[in-house]
Amino acid sequence: MAIIYNEKNKTFNLQTKNTSYIIGVIEDTVLLHLYYGKKIRAYNQDLYEIAVTRDAGAFCGSDFESNPYLRSEALAVEYPCYGHADLRTPAFHAEYENGSAITKLDYVDYRIFDGKKAIPGLPSTYAENDGEVQTLEITLRDALTGLEVILSYSVFEDFDAIAKSVKIKNLTGQNVRLKSAISSTTYVFDKRFEFVHLAGAWARERHIQRVPLTSGNISVDSKRVSSSHQHSPFMALARPETTENAGEVYGYSLVYSGNFIAQADVGAYDLTRLNMGINPFGFNWLLEDGEEFCTPEVISVYSANGFGEMSRSFHRLYRNRLCRGKWRDIERPVLINNWEATYFDFDEEKILNIAKKAQSLGVELMVLDDGWFGKRDDDTNSLGDWVADRRKLPGGIDALAKKVTELGMKFGLWFEPEMVSEDSDLYRAHPDWCIHVEGRRRTPSRQQLVLDLSRDDVCDYIVDAVSKVLGSAPISYVKWDMNRNITEIGSAKLPAERQQELPHRYMLGLYSVLERLTGMFPDVLFEGCSGGGGRFDAGMLPYFPQYWTSDDTDAIERLYIQHGTSMVMPSCTMGAHVSAVPNHQIGRTTSMKTRGNVAMMGQFGYELDLSTLSDEDIAEVRNQIETYKKIRTTVHRGDMYRLRSPFEGRNTAWEYVAEDKSRVVLMYCTIMGKVQAELTRVRFEGLDADAKYRDTETGTVYDADFLMNRGLFFDDNHDFESRLMIFERV
Ligand code: DGJ
Repeated sequence: MAIIYNEKNKTFNLQTKNTSYIIGVIEDTVLLHLYYGKKIRAYNQDLYEIAVTRDAGAFCGSDFESNPYLRSEALAVEYPCYGHADLRTPAFHAEYENGSAITKLDYVDYRIFDGKKAIPGLPSTYAENDGEVQTLEITLRDALTGLEVILSYSVFEDFDAIAKSVKIKNLTGQNVRLKSAISSTTYVFDKRFEFVHLAGAWARERHIQRVPLTSGNISVDSKRVSSSHQHSPFMALARPETTENAGEVYGYSLVYSGNFIAQADVGAYDLTRLNMGINPFGFNWLLEDGEEFCTPEVISVYSANGFGEMSRSFHRLYRNRLCRGKWRDIERPVLINNWEATYFDFDEEKILNIAKKAQSLGVELMVLDDGWFGKRDDDTNSLGDWVADRRKLPGGIDALAKKVTELGMKFGLWFEPEMVSEDSDLYRAHPDWCIHVEGRRRTPSRQQLVLDLSRDDVCDYIVDAVSKVLGSAPISYVKWDMNRNITEIGSAKLPAERQQELPHRYMLGLYSVLERLTGMFPDVLFEGCSGGGGRFDAGMLPYFPQYWTSDDTDAIERLYIQHGTSMVMPSCTMGAHVSAVPNHQIGRTTSMKTRGNVAMMGQFGYELDLSTLSDEDIAEVRNQIETYKKIRTTVHRGDMYRLRSPFEGRNTAWEYVAEDKSRVVLMYCTIMGKVQAELTRVRFEGLDADAKYRDTETGTVYDADFLMNRGLFFDDNHDFESRLMIFERV
């Protein structure tokens, strides 16, 4: 049983395979966070132990009539609300009709059941059968207003993860304005931790950052109505000494793609509150009497054995119980995308030539990128007009898709359905369909505006336009792009009192569109993209089992980007392509071999004009595709071990061990070489300790304990050189 309730001291022990998350009720009213960490059988201690050890008298009131010595600021309140003695950053803040913005949420009751409910309108993790998840729901109520808050905890015992979300029920008889409704609050009980997050920019996404906690507030957030290139809805709290395979770390990942906050609020007494959820900035939701509001869910993972174990828990859960549909478990095709080969300058013949060459080398899917519709020869126009440009494609998409299919390949197509160009028929017909504020400039970004997905008519248009194209031709794959952030938040349709709801309503609209389209076309593989990895977050995975990780296709830059991304995202979700050199983003030249080796550690593809390659490179491409087809299941479904970090030295090593440990893939890449350099020892992890493994290239057989303890040595003699090794258990 994953959830154990102890009636005597009113504690709930949420147990996964290796962890316990424990909360309990004191004074019959307040739910406290008591413990999160390595699994413990029971919490038989006095709940007041933590609460009363601090003499928090001065300037700290008590929320307890029954016990004035229980100072609220010294307590780890599990779902803190604003307005009483606890004046730290709250999870919950709401305003009532009398102008008061004070709520007091008291514990009412609980219920435990097998299985997990879906969250209406939002993506979430799921159980395949009720036996694999148990859920605890705790009801809190404001005695004065009657407002109810239901905290939900779903325990994925075998996945070592807990999914938390919150439902707010307005049973007050009046309208309530939600100003903050955080999804998860937890604590660490001292501040000797580092706040770990993923930060970046376009073409430099998700670089790992570690900042020591100090008194005050550390947070990352987004106000862009997209989780963004700049920050990710992820945070980890790690001990300063935590490494990849040792030390404790708490990981939190939000299943949401819009404005978010991830925050560590170090209070007096160093008790550190961790809040994660929708960003309270720009959030203001009118909850009418009788209505409910559901927050997105936060996935929490605790590892006593470093970042690697934390990431592997996220990876297993996300690839098995967040990704879904036909493409979740099957091998995905090697693709070629024409974007960096042609940009907007193509016609049917050029695309077919690329496809023919690619097919002869083993590529399985031809993706036609931006520029196939309207009159789009550059990025100034036509978004919204999803009709093929007959100048470039005389027979339309159908004729091209059929010709590609006849070559023995699948055909895929790019869309950017959330956007509209001012120079488009759609904008001319519906200038009020974009997000804007009357009287203010509609700030273009990449020469485009954003459609107002809070409107049902706009969502219907998108579903209709995309499904018409998908239904008209043999299209097996969609690349769904999104190339700007959202400014001038305003909707022509929403009433004044709901204008501030637009950021969240946009997300609900987007999720509903994606739900409908992926439901209508279950066989189509949808890949997400937002100028590369701009919205690559957990909220996207139910619709997009893979995501274009970054517009930066340089192999060396990709080491950093893919390494950082893998903190949360499994390799099966990371789109990774070989592109031309000098690289279009950074001008660097690396070998075809290294470009291939790095890209093969994600969902593999090409994005260059194959007809310009030397015979030697063509032979290498053929060899890469053959190799990738042998290793893709291990890389995508296996356990990933980050053995060397690009952020910490001159090389990178990633290892993937098949679920049954029968096969191992190791990729080693030198970043900067060094003359007469010392050798780098790489110790393998996660092997079947008693087995032997054969290097499939050299035939050398190693004991697993040799590989894991003594390891192999690699040289760093030359910049950007790499090796790919495949081992099989003998
Ligand atoms: C941005 C994407 O990240 C690129 O891969 C490409 O699809 C362009 N958009 C097309 O406009």
